[in-house]
Amino acid sequence: MIINSVKLSNFRNHSNYFLQCTDNTSLILGKNGSGKTSVLEAIYILTQGKSFRATDHDIIKRGADFYRAEIAYNNGESSTVTYDGSVKTFIVMNKKTRRLPAKNKYPVILFQPSDLNLIDHAPSRRRTYFDRIFSQFDSSYASALSRYDKAIRQRNELLKSDIISPDSVFSWNIMLSKYGADLYNMRQQFIQEINSYITDTYRSIASNEDSVKVLYQTSVPSPDESKYLNILEANFEKDHYLGHTSFGVHHDDYVFNFNNAHADGSASRGESRSLILALKFIEANLIYIKSGKRPIILLDDVFSELDPVRRKCLVKNFQDNQVIITSVEDIANIQNDQ
Ligand SMILES: Nc1ncnc2c1ncn2[C@@H]1O[C@H](COP(=O)(O)OP(=O)(O)OP(=O)(O)O)[C@@H](O)[C@H]1O
Ligand SMILES: [Mg+2]
Repeated sequence: MIINSVKLSNFRNHSNYFLQCTDNTSLILGKNGSGKTSVLEAIYILTQGKSFRATDHDIIKRGADFYRAEIAYNNGESSTVTYDGSVKTFIVMNKKTRRLPAKNKYPVILFQPSDLNLIDHAPSRRRTYFDRIFSQFDSSYASALSRYDKAIRQRNELLKSDIISPDSVFSWNIMLSKYGADLYNMRQQFIQEINSYITDTYRSIASNEDSVKVLYQTSVPSPDESKYLNILEANFEKDHYLGHTSFGVHHDDYVFNFNNAHADGSASRGESRSLILALKFIEANLIYIKSGKRPIILLDDVFSELDPVRRKCLVKNFQDNQVIITSVEDIANIQNDQ
């Protein structure tokens, strides 16, 4: 599916905005603060259900009392989202819903300059990064994650109160062990799939013979639900004292290895950039293999961050996808500068 146009009302700094897209590459050119990322944010909400950077309240143009965004696709379909300060409504094919149903989501790959530092970021950033990818690989990952997160919030809430017994967190322990085990299994499987491509893809960008691997790091000893539950129960006193849940897949991390050594702190800038690029290409490829859909690529200010070789790789690898690029500088100038 291809986006034909994007229309915004009271969306961040845009009172009224219209973007006509082309089949392959569309460029959103503008000064810092002109509202480029906001256009990608609107596309993200209409394809994924929620923003990648803020709550709906932050998005309403200051002084206005609602926002509205609409996407028209090349097959004649369109989807709209409105938020009036309390209720968010999606309208897809004339049907109103509060949440964007999984069947109406369309895969997108967002690429921002901060992704280029993924290796050195805090674990929570890497978790969010991979959670977003895996949610697009499989909608059951997204629902397991949202149920797990809800259970963690509820259990932690209870743990903060003075008078509680192990029984009061029992139902949340059950949820955590069930969805925690599911997430463990899917994370392990998806990382394995990524690893089956990563060295070849990396070598095609970096033009060297290095081997690369992503390691899934978890303190959960096995995906066995009953063992998971036993640990949560055994930790009750400790967790009550701490006021939060100390064990579980919400503490997981992902580590990047170059030639069997940890990349964190040792990979050069170029090496980490090639690695992230490789990840993005694999993401797009695996989404296509799994869903038959070519993800829409949203490149937020990232083009100017890359050298000509990596830029060429980017263009070549995404030649079958619709690509929407934001930039402060005309891409043609960037190319000519080299
Ligand atoms: N709710 C809001 N109402 C009005 N303006 C807002 C709102 N939220 C953000 N802004 C402003 O909208 C502008 C556009 O933000 P956006 O991040 O889309 O810009 P950008 O073109 O991507 O900038 P940059 O090139 O710096 O990344 C910013 O100046 C921001 O301060
Ligand atoms: Mg921006």
